[in-house]
Amino acid sequence: MIKKCLFPVAGYGTRFLPATKAMPKEILPVVNKPLVQYGVEEAAEAGIHEFGFVTGRGKRAIEDHFDISYELEHQIAGSGKENLLTSIRDLIDHNTFAFTRQVEMKGLGHAILSGRNLIGDNPFAVVLADDFCVGPGEGEDGVLAQMVKLYNQFRCSIVAIEEVPADETHKYGVIAGESMKDGLYRITDMVEKPTPENAPSNLAIIGRYILTPDIFDILERTPAGKNGEIQITDALLEQAKNGCVLAYQFKGRRFDCGSIDGFVEATNYVYENIYKKSK
Ligand code: UTP
Repeated sequence: MIKKCLFPVAGYGTRFLPATKAMPKEILPVVNKPLVQYGVEEAAEAGIHEFGFVTGRGKRAIEDHFDISYELEHQIAGSGKENLLTSIRDLIDHNTFAFTRQVEMKGLGHAILSGRNLIGDNPFAVVLADDFCVGPGEGEDGVLAQMVKLYNQFRCSIVAIEEVPADETHKYGVIAGESMKDGLYRITDMVEKPTPENAPSNLAIIGRYILTPDIFDILERTPAGKNGEIQITDALLEQAKNGCVLAYQFKGRRFDCGSIDGFVEATNYVYENIYKKSK
């Protein structure tokens, strides 16, 4: 059972400056909901109810978002606006939220290691909220729910992957693997942000992971890699030596909300396909 989900949210979000000068990128709204809330909803839909956040300086708004605002609730109680808080109130009522800090920004691997005390000795999910994912259709499993089902079958670490154009491999960790069945690979190699010539495939890792807890000991001894950061891909490659790291070509769609273009695309998608339909 995957019971916990970790959100590394310590990054500076420099691509969104000046918007992210005083506000975390994860709180930027996609239409009317902060980016991070979509990620939490996706994980809750996958049956996860314990959330851990690895934050940094200037990220308090995330903690406040997942807490009750008595003054605001009192203010709008009984008005037609009360229902606008229903989605976040539901999350607060049915889940727990814990926070720890990544004191120095030493990369995604280091951020995940910083969350060790929130996770303990359990397999867990990781969501990078700036990858906004939607499932393949109404009533069908979201991306994390698809991965949890696979975990229950294989009991291995799993990364979500998608095909990217050759000229974009330098933005991602890229895998090589043996095909196990349609859309599922056993990872044999992984390169962080390769040039198209050095990329082992066009299958790029996106921000959804299920990790077995031995990843923490591996991260402890993983030296800084590309860009001087402790890379989760380096630790996963080490873990893959036991033959138990899978890559899953998820069903659905992913928007790179860490970039302006992806963020605008996601906003248009949510407005047309989710917001308007809910009216
Ligand atoms: P990114 O590099 O995409 O996020 O990291 P960023 O640094 O916030 O964005 P830019 O490039 O400056 O615009 C991917 C994810 O990993 C987290 C980030 O918060 C983001 O969710 N991260 C990255 C950490 O929590 N700590 C780190 O040291 C690095």
